[in-house]
Amino acid sequence: MKKRVLFVCLGNICRSPSAEAVFNGLVKQNGLSDLIECDSAGTAAYHEGEPADQRMQSHAIRRGYRLNSIARKFDPAVDFEKFDYIVGMDDDNVNDLQDMASGIEDLNKIFKMTDFCSHGGHYSVPDPYYGGSEGFELVLDILEDACEGLLNEVRG
Ligand code: 4NP
Repeated sequence: MKKRVLFVCLGNICRSPSAEAVFNGLVKQNGLSDLIECDSAGTAAYHEGEPADQRMQSHAIRRGYRLNSIARKFDPAVDFEKFDYIVGMDDDNVNDLQDMASGIEDLNKIFKMTDFCSHGGHYSVPDPYYGGSEGFELVLDILEDACEGLLNEVRG
């Protein structure tokens, strides 16, 4: 059975679309595209229908990641059922997801991205939206580390 991963941040225009692109790159590299798929969503609807943030896109493209997802809001009625791993970028995302869960099965699918990091010291993927370019680079550094750990977890 195909495993499905959903990355979740606040706006779905910076961190979670990047997580999707980094993870997809690894999935492809490892020849696992038939077995694992992913998507991303936001807990807020502010940017619904928009492409990823231009700054995030330009930092990502320098590392070879094309961000082509369109922002959408997390839909508890569909997403808890459809996905096996629902991965928030920070504690607010995780708390918001937990508040929307309707039972233990839903709750057991919720993770925090940094739980999969192997380089220590990061307990969230910090929101880069109001900061400078170091914030966008940090997002990508943390995601590249965490996505490797997550892939090992998902592939079993
Ligand atoms: P994201 O970043 O959650 O990583 O997509 C943000 C995007 C937009 C806003 C905040 C964070 N905003 O306040 O509009």
